[in-house]
Amino acid sequence: MKKHKIALLAGDAIGPELMREAVKVLKAVEARNSDLEFDLIEAPFGASAYFEVGHPFPDETKKLCDEADAVLKGPVGLSYEETQKIPVDMQAERGAILPLRRHLNTYANFRPVSLPKALAHFSPLKPEIVGDGIDILIIRELVGGLYFGEKETGTNPEGLRYVKETLEYDEKQIRQILHVAFQQAQKRKKVLHNIHKSNVLKSSVLWNEIVEELAPEYPDVEVKHQLVDSAATALCLNPTQFDVMVMENMFGDILSDQGGGILGSLGLMPSACLGDNKAYYEPSHGSAPDIAGQNIANPYSMIGSVALMLEHSFDLREEAANVWRAIQSVFADGYSTPDLSKPGSGVTMINTDAFGDRVVEALGAF
Ligand code: IPM
Ligand code: MG
Repeated sequence: MKKHKIALLAGDAIGPELMREAVKVLKAVEARNSDLEFDLIEAPFGASAYFEVGHPFPDETKKLCDEADAVLKGPVGLSYEETQKIPVDMQAERGAILPLRRHLNTYANFRPVSLPKALAHFSPLKPEIVGDGIDILIIRELVGGLYFGEKETGTNPEGLRYVKETLEYDEKQIRQILHVAFQQAQKRKKVLHNIHKSNVLKSSVLWNEIVEELAPEYPDVEVKHQLVDSAATALCLNPTQFDVMVMENMFGDILSDQGGGILGSLGLMPSACLGDNKAYYEPSHGSAPDIAGQNIANPYSMIGSVALMLEHSFDLREEAANVWRAIQSVFADGYSTPDLSKPGSGVTMINTDAFGDRVVEALGAF
């Protein structure tokens, strides 16, 4: 019997609704395999945790994450007005997400930008640009760079308020994320787009130097260097040229949201946050407080994150592939949810929970 302990951090707003569907899928996977057991344990995290227990990333949650074999996390954060009720450093992003990433040292963030045929109608891009489908793996460095560097605010000698934020990497940090990217490129199409801004940023100059140093260890991988601004345009005009893309934390934050844009919704963006010893999985999007509690958010990003967990944390590749197939088959059968599709767009509209039920049903048929 293989037993896996999974920490479930449902998060805020639509988080619990999405988590319910993810749990259904995990239970269905467990039921299909007599030698598999998932021990699912919930813990508070995010703005709701702040209001309930006084901290967005409470010690009990930290302890559970340390003990668990993997962590599944929902989106966090509340509306602007609700967020103002929380001290700045306790707000969900600064107080929970970034500390979680740092605590688990999940330096490699995999953000698949995947548009198979069944989902093609969601994309705002023309069919001739989407071609046979988009399948990009954005690899974002997740625990360094501008988001984690030292910050300073104050008043300068001229009496003007100023702010200083630092973008800092050492070569070890850059090397570790690049190894991961080269290895993924080797497993896929053997082309690695290195995204940088070396015409301006010294951090990119060092980053690119290390790319050149590592490249001989991966002679079968072709490296293509591309400036981040030009990559943003290319993602819209010719996304199918990309396979694996690797980049610094902030570049990855921005370009991966653009990835959601070319798919048609951030709701189609699951992600895996991987470290050497720990991993957690989360949708790439926010908690959508405007549609919370309405049972209309599509659970794709959360169920996709389950599939990534099955693959990366538990090496259950076949089950992961089955979950992807199941969720895509629900779209292929013409179903969608109100957050993704407009009434009259030719789809059969169903709610969050019915979508999850259909995924489970499809899974049962394989
Ligand atoms: C993401 C989010 C986070 C980030 C925020 C919520 C801290 O935008 O995961 O992309 O900037 O990394
Ligand atoms: Mg983001």
